[in-house]
Amino acid sequence: MSPLSNLAVRDIETVVHPYTQLAALRETGPLVLERGEGVFVYDTEGKPYIEGMAGLWCTALGYGNEELVEAASAQMRKLPFAHLFTGKSHDPAIELAERVKELLPFPTSKVFFCSSGSEANDTQIKLVWYMNNALGRPDKKKIISRLKAYHGVTIAAASLTGLANNHRDFDLPIARILHTGCPHSYRFAEPGESEDDFARRLAAELEQLIINEGPDTVAAFIAEPVMGAGGVIVPPAAYFPEIMKVCRKYDVYMISDEVICGFGRLGTMFGASALGYAPDSVSLAKALTSAYLPLAAVSVPQRMYEAMLDESRKIGMFGHGFTYSGHPVAAAVALKALEIYARERIADKVARKAPQFQGRLAALGNHPLVGEARGLGLVGGLELVADKVTKRSFDPKAAVAPQAVRFAQMEGLIVRFLAGDVISLCPPLIIKPAEIDELFDRLARALDRTLDWSSRERLA
Ligand SMILES: Cc1ncc(COP(=O)(O)O)c(C=O)c1O
Repeated sequence: MSPLSNLAVRDIETVVHPYTQLAALRETGPLVLERGEGVFVYDTEGKPYIEGMAGLWCTALGYGNEELVEAASAQMRKLPFAHLFTGKSHDPAIELAERVKELLPFPTSKVFFCSSGSEANDTQIKLVWYMNNALGRPDKKKIISRLKAYHGVTIAAASLTGLANNHRDFDLPIARILHTGCPHSYRFAEPGESEDDFARRLAAELEQLIINEGPDTVAAFIAEPVMGAGGVIVPPAAYFPEIMKVCRKYDVYMISDEVICGFGRLGTMFGASALGYAPDSVSLAKALTSAYLPLAAVSVPQRMYEAMLDESRKIGMFGHGFTYSGHPVAAAVALKALEIYARERIADKVARKAPQFQGRLAALGNHPLVGEARGLGLVGGLELVADKVTKRSFDPKAAVAPQAVRFAQMEGLIVRFLAGDVISLCPPLIIKPAEIDELFDRLARALDRTLDWSSRERLA
């Protein structure tokens, strides 16, 4: 192993890294990035990488977008900070709320701003609880999420997240957060069960959970259209229509977590449209600013807003909000990003590029290591298995997907491993057809190197 650079050593001695095997990092050191252009990022040695994950599913417009930089610097010069507390406001927040309302494909009354996907989902829970207190149903408070969901890491959002490592030893989940089944047919459908039957079974399971808990105690259901960090899981086509019937039947507020899928990722402006449902509310973040600055948003329907009015009248105020709610510089960048998405017809372009992307992804399904290749639009996942026929997974201790990600990095490609030996792909939406081919060529070489390595190590 090459000696660690000075920056790498300083990093190890000072920075706590999220989502990292902290002990291993002390040996390997971090990959230190310095700059980016288009879909490429460059490390401190000048080596280029295709950013196959758009950072963390977020830099939709890639790197070096001067329009976004200009929008930020102009707003910084004009009014670098203003808040929305105690009746204050500013132009960028007002305009952005109007724009988000126009874009959402279902009725929305108001928009609440915060800075991260986790804050957005925490806010969703608080708003649902607040609403149900205002509506005089104080017991209707439980929130149903799904196994393998990812909704963030703050205490409530991490509780919604359905992944063991986000709960273990953090004493989570908190009370009143429940998890129902995950719509991944490759892993969870019964032998011989059709996708439609699987979807109906999951909807029946949700209904049974609501009945068992008592419909008067269940407030909301939250779901990502395509699950991201849980393994890039695309539900069967019948899943959301069936789930929505159950939510409507029991007056369960439906929240679509569009933090990854919003703004074109699936070839439609919002993921809910691609998956055929209309939620009560969305959580937005990431591509809202193309990740150039932190910003998130929660949409509020009229029914909830009216309840909030009543409750704040009673209490004397609506006691929720962050210093950076609607930060003017972040809002100005978001307005510019939304302008670019509309001008460039970004969602249509994703839909046109998707067949090439999904075709190259599906072809990797033939690789001896790949159990399932899955995706939609410009997001994809490859589940690596020890045995394609029985779907037997590798021993997690063998860390096969992490090894594949290391080989990809050597090939000049950044991808991510997720629990269950899944490799995820989520490139900037501006990726060009030739770059899609280059991405998959590099990934195929990385998989071949992983296969050689796993044979040498006798891992299968
Ligand atoms: C679907 C989804 N929701 C919420 C979050 C949490 O967002 P943040 O990391 O900004 O708190 C993420 C992050 O990846 C996400 O993918």
